Amino acid sequence: MCGIVGCVTAGADAPRILIESLKRLEYRGYDSAGVAIIKDGAIETMREVGKLSNLESTLGNSGLMGGTGLGHTRWATHGRPTEVNAHPHRDGSGRIVVVHNGIIENFRELRKELQDAGHEFASDTDSEVIAHLVQSNFSGNLTEAVHASIQRLQGAYAIGVMHADEPELIVGARKDCPLVVGLGDGENFLASDVTAVMDQTTTVVYLDDGDIATIRRESVAIQNAQGEPVEFVPTKISWSLSQAERGGYPHFMLKEIHEQPTVISDTLLGRLDEEEGEVRLEELALSDDDIREIKRVNIIACGTSWHAGQVAKFYIEQFARIPVDVDYASELRYRSPVLEKGGLMIAISQSGETADTIAAMRMAREAGCSIVGVCNVIGSTIVRESDGTIMTHAGPEIGVASTKAFVSQLVALLLLSIKLGRVRGVLTKEDVQEHCRKIRHLPKAVESVLQTENHVRKVALKYVSAQDFLFIGRGVNYPIALEGALKLKEISYIHAEGYPAGEMKHGPIALLDEKLPVVAICTKSAIYDKIVTNVEEARVRDAKMIVIANAGDEDIKEVADDVIYVPEVDEFLSPIINVVPLQLLSYFVAHERGCDVDQPRNLAKSVTVE
Ligand code: AGP
Repeated sequence: MCGIVGCVTAGADAPRILIESLKRLEYRGYDSAGVAIIKDGAIETMREVGKLSNLESTLGNSGLMGGTGLGHTRWATHGRPTEVNAHPHRDGSGRIVVVHNGIIENFRELRKELQDAGHEFASDTDSEVIAHLVQSNFSGNLTEAVHASIQRLQGAYAIGVMHADEPELIVGARKDCPLVVGLGDGENFLASDVTAVMDQTTTVVYLDDGDIATIRRESVAIQNAQGEPVEFVPTKISWSLSQAERGGYPHFMLKEIHEQPTVISDTLLGRLDEEEGEVRLEELALSDDDIREIKRVNIIACGTSWHAGQVAKFYIEQFARIPVDVDYASELRYRSPVLEKGGLMIAISQSGETADTIAAMRMAREAGCSIVGVCNVIGSTIVRESDGTIMTHAGPEIGVASTKAFVSQLVALLLLSIKLGRVRGVLTKEDVQEHCRKIRHLPKAVESVLQTENHVRKVALKYVSAQDFLFIGRGVNYPIALEGALKLKEISYIHAEGYPAGEMKHGPIALLDEKLPVVAICTKSAIYDKIVTNVEEARVRDAKMIVIANAGDEDIKEVADDVIYVPEVDEFLSPIINVVPLQLLSYFVAHERGCDVDQPRNLAKSVTVE
């Protein structure tokens, strides 16, 4: 999704600062980029289609300097990815510029009204109306003009605005899209997320919906939607910049796959009380009585987080015996779900800014549900709007394809399920103690999966030319088959489908032939024999079988073309292990095909529009 950056500094270095900040937002996905700099009482804009390096060299050649500016990476929604549609957008006078993330739903109506009043538009975007609106409301005070203008906007937005008359001012405003202010020493910043400003400052203010920030070099003032001053509390960011950089790996995705043992330890930290047989989730905001009262759990999420939700259904039903519904947030929000007062909704999101998940959460809030957010980003909208949270402590995830955040979600949801089960008396103290012992072994088990990397790479190279892949699994590993398929299609652009292995005979078996690789998750489980049978059925129809099996399972070689061995763990822990070779497989296939692994085409890291 689009990324916004802005700075008000003393020197003339704004172009460099903006480009470096935009680079940190590249992971969000974009197709064009631009900057605007205030210089000698005028605003100069430069925009380029394609990678940021194009904009960087145009800027470098121009010699443009200045201390105040805005930058933007655009992910096209309205209007093709062209230079004219790239941000920043200007008003008719050229003295006001705007950068925007989100979608203005009533832009056609506003555009018509402004055109009737004599405004001439240059682009096909919804965003340009904001610049013209601000111009029509401007009478000397930019913050007031922005305040008046956003009253007219329907939809979602985070915006940054500058006026040529105010060489040391940017104004930011948000509704349903993330925006943070970075607080520096004699300089201040604006950005879509904290990674963009971390080179300059680790002290930030997360803006709330309706907030307008007036950002000058020496001061920041925030007002709410009613125009009242907001007393803000800055947040200190604990992530280091190096955590957000590649650290020697060719891609963020590979680095993030390798971080998973540490991420699991971090997500467990301080939460397993083995002696007492308890799981401690301090910020859950549910009393034991609340937990005993839960009749049903609704889980909402999108994409990979939805797969974590599917695993959580198994966990919560098994450990806490509470019925669970799992919905795509984009589906739940447009039907009439039965959300009961007193029900529990779990919203799962790496970014905490996914528009559909936020909208579905708000529906649950209106229906009177309690909301627990399982999230990786402190201060994100989902964290702020949840009653309770379980932070997943995966650290910044930059690769667009989620890996370590997914694994941390699985761990967090497992802990939640065990807690629910213990409080409701489904699990005894001894059960929890035993689970704790096994869970503690997870980081080591994942480390040993990572040691199979070279073998997985060799397997991947055999199948790089395949046009389709099928992933099959059963039970708690069925969502892992879905995740394996999603990972492969996201980054390699190979068509892939995940299926519950028991469903093969009901249709997909017709697809099988020698050209179709089938990845089967075949680790030890209560229904191990059944999935081996499914593998055999596929194999006799000439499909190429890539099997994930437990170390020591020699018999499986008879039905497999390739086996990837992983350590044996209890079935409930197996999704956390089994997803790792699938991530590696996708990575190596995509890499070998020359794909842009970290920033796959058409995808955005943080889907802040519906
Ligand atoms: C994951 O690889 C995807 N890029 C995508 O499906 C993602 O999981 C989805 O957009 C949800 O994002 P969230 O977890 O930040 O809400």
